[in-house]
Amino acid sequence: AVERTLSIVKPDAVAKNVIGEILTRFEKAGLKVVAAKMIKLDDEKAGGFYAEHKERPFFKDLVSFMTSGPVVVQVLEGENAIAANRELMGATNPKEAAAGTIRADFAESIDANAVHGSDSAASAEREIAYFFAADEICSR
Ligand code: CMP
Repeated sequence: AVERTLSIVKPDAVAKNVIGEILTRFEKAGLKVVAAKMIKLDDEKAGGFYAEHKERPFFKDLVSFMTSGPVVVQVLEGENAIAANRELMGATNPKEAAAGTIRADFAESIDANAVHGSDSAASAEREIAYFFAADEICSR
C-alpha cells in the first residue's frame, strides 16, 4: 500500500553537506518528497519528538545532538514507504548497518547516525503530525 513516513536528515549529515545525496537515495528508490523543511530544534521540540525514549540513558545526549544544528524534516510517500525507508537507512548503529545503506555511508556513531525514519505506521502518523500541518503536505 502507499504509505507516508517521516524522515529527518540529522545535524551531522546537514553539517557534512549531504542533504541532497540522501534525498537522492529516497527518490532513486521511488519515494517522493511530499513535504520538507529545514529547522533548528530546541530542547522542547526534540524532547517531545523522542518522548518514548525519555527514560533511556541516551535521552539527554540524543536531545543535545538533535539540537546541535539544523535538521531537514521530510514526509516521504510511496509503496511501503515505512519499511522502504528503513531499508535505505540501515541499522541504527552505523557499525551494524549493511553496506550501501545511508548510515553505513554517512553516519559516524549511534548518536550521529545521519537519519531518522518512522518505525511503524502508528509512529509515522504521530511523527508527521508533530512536524507538519495537513496543508503543508503535497500528495502527488
Ligand atoms: P533514531 O532512529 O533517531 O531514534 C532514536 C535515536 O537515539 C536513534 O536514532 C539513535 O541515534 C539514538 N540512540 C543513541 N543510543 C541509542 C541506543 N542505545 N539505542 C537506540 N538508539 C540510540
